Amino acid sequence: MTADTTAHDIEAPGVRIRDLTVVYKTPAGELPAVRGVDLALAPGTITGVVGESGSGKSTLALSLLNAVQPPGRIAAGSVEIDGLGDVLTLRGEDLRRARGRQVGYVFQAAQNSLNPLKTIGKQLLDLGRSHDVEDLRGLVRDAKDLLARMGMDGARVLDSYQHELSGGMRQRVGIMLALVLNAKVVVLDEPTTALDMITQATILRIIREVHEERALTTLVITHDVGAVAEVADSLAVMYGGRVVEHGPVTEVLGDARHPYTQGLIRAIPRLSGDLSLARALPGRPPTLGTLPTQGCVFRERCERRMDVCETDEPMSVNRDGRTVACHAADRHLTLVKRKELV
Ligand SMILES: Nc1ncnc2c1ncn2[C@@H]1O[C@H](COP(=O)(O)OP(=O)(O)OP(=O)(O)O)[C@@H](O)[C@H]1O
Ligand code: SF4
Ligand SMILES: [Mg+2]
Repeated sequence: MTADTTAHDIEAPGVRIRDLTVVYKTPAGELPAVRGVDLALAPGTITGVVGESGSGKSTLALSLLNAVQPPGRIAAGSVEIDGLGDVLTLRGEDLRRARGRQVGYVFQAAQNSLNPLKTIGKQLLDLGRSHDVEDLRGLVRDAKDLLARMGMDGARVLDSYQHELSGGMRQRVGIMLALVLNAKVVVLDEPTTALDMITQATILRIIREVHEERALTTLVITHDVGAVAEVADSLAVMYGGRVVEHGPVTEVLGDARHPYTQGLIRAIPRLSGDLSLARALPGRPPTLGTLPTQGCVFRERCERRMDVCETDEPMSVNRDGRTVACHAADRHLTLVKRKELV
């Protein structure tokens, strides 16, 4: 198979994460970093995942590749990818082949994960060979093209060692490596953090272009809610290992239903639209050790908490294509619906 025979002849696959729980072993026992997550990535769309540090975004991303390492472990759930099956049941050679070829990825801090002893070009060829790419010239051509689109001299970059490239350049090399095998599912964990704002916007635009050209299904993780608004079709908001809100990006940002999402948006002037009203979310996100074991994970910081939030975990409720896990949002919507009926 050549590098590009898979590019345009397969439809974008859907991805369904069901009831996913991932735990890490700690001195206090195994604690969940991702808990009971249900998330569907619609074929051909970009899903953005946002949430403060430690909310479980990278752990979720690693699960999509069945790449959670000890002291972590996937304790429950499934990750079904069309044409591949449940990734969590893949082992050994099947798993190695799926990574890169079917699921392309940039891990967080990918700029630090290149081999310091080999040129980027040599690493590209190794990648191609390990995935049985016959047309290695075509692979190099595609790599140069992707690098050029990201504003780099492809030939020079392929001849370079990682220490000869800046952090931003290495990050773009990581994105190239995630895309060059023409995987149909692409997972990008903080792909642009080492870049300045303008380059960040450009790279996200290129990711969007490549996504559309190749009919991909893409997951982009970022701290930057503003940036994700420009690139994603739908948005999942994580807090304390849970997806607390998910829906079309314009709806989630334009009419957030979960108090945490509302707080995140208020903290960003260019989204809240008013510099003087922008204010940081009070308090701190929980760590694995401070996560509440009952009730709502967000209750310590929530202005709308009620008695029930102390004792009962809110279920994810799906209405009109939007999912929210909050007792107050649920009641509010029920009241609105009742009013509409009378
Ligand atoms: N190897 C590990 N051992 C123990 N705990 C871990 C490990 N990796 C992650 N965790 C914990 O799991 C939780 C989720 O971490 P994760 O890296 O998935 O969050 P994140 O949302 O990607 O954060 P960030 O925005 O900082 O990248 C955190 O509380 C983190 O401390
Ligand atoms: S369930 Fe309760 S504490 Fe949690 S976000 Fe909703 S109102 Fe706040
Ligand atoms: Mg992370």
